[in-house]
Amino acid sequence: MKIAVFAGDGIGPEVTEQAVRVLRALGLPGLELTEGDVGGAAYNKHGHPLPEVTLATARAADAILFGAVGDFSCDHLERHLRPEQAILGLRKELGLFANLRPARLFAGMEGFSALRPEVAGQIDLLIVRELNGDVYFGEKGIRTLPDGRRQGWDMMAYAEDEVRRIAHVGFRAAMGRKKKLCSVDKANVLETSQLWRNVMIEVAAEYPEVELSHMYVDNAAMQLVRAPGQFDVVVTGNLFGDILSDQASMCVGSIGLLASASLAEGTKGLYEPIHGSAPDIAGQDKANPLATILSAAMLLRHSFGAEAPAARIEAAVARALGDGVRGFDLGGSMGTRAIGDAVVERL
Ligand code: NAD
Ligand code: IPM
Ligand code: MN
Repeated sequence: MKIAVFAGDGIGPEVTEQAVRVLRALGLPGLELTEGDVGGAAYNKHGHPLPEVTLATARAADAILFGAVGDFSCDHLERHLRPEQAILGLRKELGLFANLRPARLFAGMEGFSALRPEVAGQIDLLIVRELNGDVYFGEKGIRTLPDGRRQGWDMMAYAEDEVRRIAHVGFRAAMGRKKKLCSVDKANVLETSQLWRNVMIEVAAEYPEVELSHMYVDNAAMQLVRAPGQFDVVVTGNLFGDILSDQASMCVGSIGLLASASLAEGTKGLYEPIHGSAPDIAGQDKANPLATILSAAMLLRHSFGAEAPAARIEAAVARALGDGVRGFDLGGSMGTRAIGDAVVERL
């Protein structure tokens, strides 16, 4: 089990440390962890947010556990040198096109959702976010128009094969759940979205058991807080999926609870919390490590087919929350390390 561990910036190292403790506590045979530099930390050391040596470590690994990148002191750098390029580069270089972001309420946590408890209780959805295309990876720039005004521009595009492969991930995920797939787009305005919708409908023919619906992203943002129980699997593009998943986290209670898996065609994957480097609380032992610990569970399940230890981690997290383990994000006072302790104890 060759796992690359890229902790990154801000709270990245703090939350990753706890997830690594949990992985080690399982006593898995053949577990081999290799660390690597990413983000602002890598830029300061190697002059690049995703150095060749890190990329080589990622390529050699079966799976990657990722903390977070992002450092406001690097925001003046040219875009290709900014910390965020580490995660974008890994997603692109490793072909990690399918991002799974599950959002489910933990038992007894209704009161911690930003929604009314009776609404929050219904949340059990999976966002399938396309991760290799969209406006994220199109050409972009800032140019000067003939009249002298500056103009920022970003090209949004999806090719049909890119939509088709994420559609299959969405339909397959729905087959393993409640067989409901909602494709979120902006086809009333964007040609990119119109093609997206057409391809979704084409692929649907191969999954007659799945009920496919379509929703515009503005309505989806509203429905997600009005009645989240209507969603089973949501499939959407890179930008919309980024935004909707942060929103879904507050329906569950905290962004510190949502894990993710970024998958390629095979078993290789990168696993990270959906949150960022949280510079406002970095270095204060205030970050909730549960999203990263739950990402480690997804790593075991998706890259190694290790369902039993994955379920063990998830059960320990659920029990910790059930026992009242609360970080600052959930109105409590337990630090990052103490929450890690609580999970390890319950394993
Ligand atoms: P963020 O997710 O880092 O933080 C948003 C808010 O949520 C902050 O108030 C933060 O304190 C809180 N928060 C986040 N994670 C938490 C946790 N585990 N426990 C408790 N509270 C938590 O988003 P941001 O502030 O917009 O961005 C900060 C930096 O992170 C930026 O440089 C951004 O580009 C980067 N970022 C990186 C990733 C990634 O590495 N995949 C993801 C998102 C943002
Ligand atoms: C995420 C982050 C990244 C994204 C940033 C840091 C590039 O917000 O993983 O959700 O936008 O995908
Ligand atoms: Mn995001």
